[in-house]
Amino acid sequence: MSLISVSRPGRITQRPNSGSIRIELASSEDWQALSELEKASFSGDRISARSWRSFLANASATITVARDASSRIVGAAVVLERANTCVTRLYSIAIAPHARGRGLSAALLADATQRMRDAGATVMRLETRLDNFAAQHLFERGGFVQRGRKSSYYEDGEDALLYQKPLGDLGSADETVPGDPT
Ligand SMILES: CC(C)(COP(=O)(O)OP(=O)(O)OC[C@H]1O[C@@H](n2cnc3c(N)ncnc32)[C@H](O)[C@@H]1OP(=O)(O)O)[C@@H](O)C(=O)NCCC(=O)NCCS
Repeated sequence: MSLISVSRPGRITQRPNSGSIRIELASSEDWQALSELEKASFSGDRISARSWRSFLANASATITVARDASSRIVGAAVVLERANTCVTRLYSIAIAPHARGRGLSAALLADATQRMRDAGATVMRLETRLDNFAAQHLFERGGFVQRGRKSSYYEDGEDALLYQKPLGDLGSADETVPGDPT
């Protein structure tokens, strides 16, 4: 049984014994908490505090956060849009270590893709590390397909796998979170 249901973009509700989690757009004050999440989630290729402030001030970056019942950020996703293209890029997604294993990343991913679909985007692309099996599983389960590989893409020399997903009607068919009652 899943602990999470997705009712509409921007909101998820967890079943009672896990406390409630909400997904919403980040605010400009969130840069410090986002930096902390980044430090806890990535050992290299991190988004700096300065970059977080810049993303938060930039209309072409959509940053969504998952907050717990105390409004603490337990997850975040960053999507970048480019002018004159319907292709968007999932730049980052991370869940705080203590909040992993509950399907929050799938909910954040579904929310981010729905927001981009609503904004008129037709494709979402992303890169992930070749050795990041949890992320690959998350993206493949979310309907992303591999479209290539870039060698030595990351700071430590690891390759990147490139994924993409169409955001049209066909792209939404596999976005239900496990156990979603709808
Ligand atoms: C990747 C990440 C966002 C997933 O967060 P999460 O929601 O807690 O993920 P879960 O633990 O629920 O796992 C997601 C899925 O991957 C599976 N999974 C977890 N670890 C796995 C592994 N080592 N190999 C294969 N699958 C794995 C889970 O079983 C789950 O599958 P399911 O949805 O079919 O049940 C989280 O691990 C994270 O923040 N990692 C650090 C940052 C990062 O790597 N971000 C991605 C960058 S592209």
